[in-house]
Amino acid sequence: RRLTVPAIRARKNSGGEPIVMLTAYTARMAQLLDEHCDVLLVGDSLGQVIYGLPSTLPVTLDMMCAHGAAVVRGSYKSLIVVDMPFGSYEESPEAAFRAASRIMAETGCAAVKLEGGTAMADTISFLTQRGIPVMAHVGLTPQAVNALGGYGARGKSQEEAAKIAEDAKAVEQAGAFSVVIEGVIEEIARNVTAGLDIPTIGIGASPSCDGQVLVAEDMLGLFERTPRFVKRFGTMAEDISRAAGEYATAVKSRDFPEDAQLYGVKKD
Ligand code: KIV
Ligand code: NA
Repeated sequence: RRLTVPAIRARKNSGGEPIVMLTAYTARMAQLLDEHCDVLLVGDSLGQVIYGLPSTLPVTLDMMCAHGAAVVRGSYKSLIVVDMPFGSYEESPEAAFRAASRIMAETGCAAVKLEGGTAMADTISFLTQRGIPVMAHVGLTPQAVNALGGYGARGKSQEEAAKIAEDAKAVEQAGAFSVVIEGVIEEIARNVTAGLDIPTIGIGASPSCDGQVLVAEDMLGLFERTPRFVKRFGTMAEDISRAAGEYATAVKSRDFPEDAQLYGVKKD
């Protein structure tokens, strides 16, 4: 049985444990992360992490659908949320509905995530009133990198701080069931969390958020990018490099394959 959107929504002020969320883009990774997570996010960060793109802007609906379907197939208990890619939802609530319904139909996910606050409020209410649960995303919104001028933390001025709080309130009022707060001054994330009735999920935000999310590859030490907010819980880059090196050595020295890996050869 998968965790449901209302179950995640109900984690606000429940006195329970914080929401555990990680990204997943592939079936096998989803399988491994599923038992430890409440929510698996098929993030458009797959643009950089999987496809080597310079930002999330070139990510397509086709990519999100393909990876979303893989993650749904690889998991059974986490709630699956799929990011709406840049260009698929900003134009109008109707365009957003078409893109979101395609994502849900093709992947089997239970919710979508989109970036933006007050500017996306009408779209969020349009979707949520029509059966599409929406997780919002405020603060540092990577699809707006060109407008923001980079990936630096948000909320350093009074004006920016007020805007983040306003955005968070707007998405809650529009019907979002939770909101990711990314890359903001800790105090802002803490205050926003205290002022909302929906769970906040932090990334570079605050331990007082109602949950936390990281890109799995960052957390596992696989991806080379290390923003301040990433803590490495694994050493996968080193593990892969070491294994590939040992494989190469074994192939060159003809120590691989051994009898155990061959057909029709008696094992001892
Ligand atoms: O795309 C992504 O991975 C995200 C999370 C980091 C919140 O949006
Ligand atoms: Na994203």
